[in-house]
Amino acid sequence: MAELRVKVTGIEFRNPVLTAAGPNVRNGEMMLKAFEGGAGGVVAKTVSVRPARDTRPTIRKTVCRGLVNCETWSELPFEAMLEEYRKVKDAGIPLIVSIGYTPKDMRQLGPIIEREVEPDAIEFSTHYSGRSVEPLVEVAKALRESVNLPIWMKISPNLPDIEELAVKASPFVDAFVAINSYGPVLDFDVETGEPILGSEYGQGWLSGQAILPIALRIVHQVTSVQAKPVIGVGGIERGKDAIKFFMVGASAVQICSAAIRYGHSIYGKVAKEIEKWLDEHGFSSVDEVRGLFKEKLKSRKKFDGIPVMHIEESKCTGCKLCVRACVHSALYMDGDVAKVIPENCIGCGYCQDMCNFGAMWLVER
Ligand SMILES: Cc1cc2nc3c(=O)[nH]c(=O)nc-3n(C[C@H](O)[C@H](O)[C@H](O)COP(=O)(O)O)c2cc1C
Repeated sequence: MAELRVKVTGIEFRNPVLTAAGPNVRNGEMMLKAFEGGAGGVVAKTVSVRPARDTRPTIRKTVCRGLVNCETWSELPFEAMLEEYRKVKDAGIPLIVSIGYTPKDMRQLGPIIEREVEPDAIEFSTHYSGRSVEPLVEVAKALRESVNLPIWMKISPNLPDIEELAVKASPFVDAFVAINSYGPVLDFDVETGEPILGSEYGQGWLSGQAILPIALRIVHQVTSVQAKPVIGVGGIERGKDAIKFFMVGASAVQICSAAIRYGHSIYGKVAKEIEKWLDEHGFSSVDEVRGLFKEKLKSRKKFDGIPVMHIEESKCTGCKLCVRACVHSALYMDGDVAKVIPENCIGCGYCQDMCNFGAMWLVER
């Protein structure tokens, strides 16, 4: 059986599937339940110097199995959260406390949390700290000057230059977490035209499966430009989703939306699926798949010119899905098998994804 234990910034986790800050970990009881549900460790809901006051409704469904939310940070005063963290610490569970947002907030909250809670690390959210690089680096610096604990910097996807931020913040943090929810975005009720969220403009932040490819791109960028570990988050629902994050360089993953949608058992389910996938593919640990995408990106064979689709006739079942999907009119049925019209095929590759039988691949012309 593959080894699931991972060590990130000196913290040992029994598996690489952690909670992400959100309502799924809003208090001690929820954090304990997340651990019972199989989480490798717990990242708590973000607290700040003042409790948040969010106008309702705050969490709704949107397209592509996504969620939109206008929940900001914890509505509990941080003094009250200190008690909640202790429940997790007392149970011996790896605990990462999440705080936000300004350099002043870091200097105030960091030392209190370090002294009163002694968590394993502090994650800080940059979601409401500005949209340019320098102010966010200032937040990182302020926390570095205030605590000795490992620091995890959580990156929002809504920044123009992620790579510059990662490079400039790296000296002040021990790890990055990518990504927070994407946006702002807008969705509403088509029957009535009414907003579905209580925020001022009806806008919110997008999370869940809809943002997974955005998160993969950003984790790949951050792991490519600096050497500190990165914890991937965004749209993870299955073991395979997590494996993709490891392949772009992540050391662990976090889950929020899928825990809202499916409950606390999601963490253990994803961890088991990671183990199964590793076993089935002959890998003995998460370490062995880490960065695989980066290697393949370098070593992949590029076509000399425009390739053409090949159909392995012995594997074609005649289902016609590829023919229906070809927007270039390059495929037709010849009796029970699909055939290619090479002069029409532009080698886009889309029909290959329609074939459930592995009968199609691109070849040199
Ligand atoms: C309702 C809700 C509340 C959230 N609250 C926080 C928060 O307090 N702090 C934070 O850093 N991220 C927060 N997030 C972002 C998540 O931690 C996570 O980064 C993001 O949703 C992407 O992961 P997911 O697709 O697994 O949800 C929240 C997300 C949702 C959906």
